[in-house]
Amino acid sequence: MPTTRIRGVLMFLSVLAAVAVVLGAVVQAQYAGYRGKTLIAHRGASAYAPEHSAAAYKLAIAQGADYVEQDLQVTKDGQLVCLHDLTLERTTNAKEVFPGRSRALTREGRELTGWHVCDFTLAEIQQLDAGSWFDPKFKGEKVLTFQQAIDIVKGKAGIYPETKAPEVYGSLGFDMERLVMDVLKRNGLDKPNADPKTPVFIQSFSAESLKKMRQSMKVTLPLLFLFSERDRDTWMTKERMSEIKTFADGIGPAKGIVSAKPEIVPLAHDAGLSVTIWTVSSTPAVQDVRDEMRKFLSLGVDAIFTNNPDQFPRQ
Ligand code: G3P
Ligand code: CA
Repeated sequence: MPTTRIRGVLMFLSVLAAVAVVLGAVVQAQYAGYRGKTLIAHRGASAYAPEHSAAAYKLAIAQGADYVEQDLQVTKDGQLVCLHDLTLERTTNAKEVFPGRSRALTREGRELTGWHVCDFTLAEIQQLDAGSWFDPKFKGEKVLTFQQAIDIVKGKAGIYPETKAPEVYGSLGFDMERLVMDVLKRNGLDKPNADPKTPVFIQSFSAESLKKMRQSMKVTLPLLFLFSERDRDTWMTKERMSEIKTFADGIGPAKGIVSAKPEIVPLAHDAGLSVTIWTVSSTPAVQDVRDEMRKFLSLGVDAIFTNNPDQFPRQ
């Protein structure tokens, strides 16, 4: 074959290869439910402001978060509020405002004594100071409803609600998944790409909660299945990843799983699942958060929950 013909064939093949790479990247971005390496502000910019406060959410947006996370709990009168814990005392002054309202409840198989969110109405919870525990300069920050969180974030970043302990709230007569979807619907956010400036990803440690949304409620928003190091080996097979794909679009392993078993990333990707790790934050053990995040992204991770949005290494 003449040299020019060989050159032509080689050029054609390299163009084909380039097109395949670009198409692969597009497909990957689509199945991942993300638009590139993604920064999720964990409870807001919670390294610098009280978690789940307006201050933490606004700072996360100012620091360039792609998504701002909301852990959700349900009040006595059925309102969704943004709190990580099932109880109020760690992040509010509930002990001082409502002395005598602590009690023991069996939650998720163990007895938990405290000021349970489900024992308080929204009006009561809104009397609490959710800022001083973190730093006196945040005195007066309030526990936010899911609606208030959306009002702060919508149009500026994505939202990333988590159904926390949905079985606990189910046993109290609340349909947590329905509550979440109703709020999203009222805000025009219950379908993928409904608001390109406000993408929505829903997450849960509960496979049942995700199955209910995807299979019964026909939720088409992307869903993330969280799991901890304790459950690592349960999900580390091709078969289990395919099973996850029937009810979620991504896995959310604890970061230690990816450190110990980086092969989980291609395993998930091969099943069409994105990989979102939690939580990379500044601690005595992690001095250089930016470098830590860079390391995980180089392992192929698609998105990171971090308390330090300002340290996310944009490429
Ligand atoms: O949702 C991701 C990460 O936040 C899971 O851990 O306990 O902080 O909700 P947790
Ligand atoms: Ca969470």
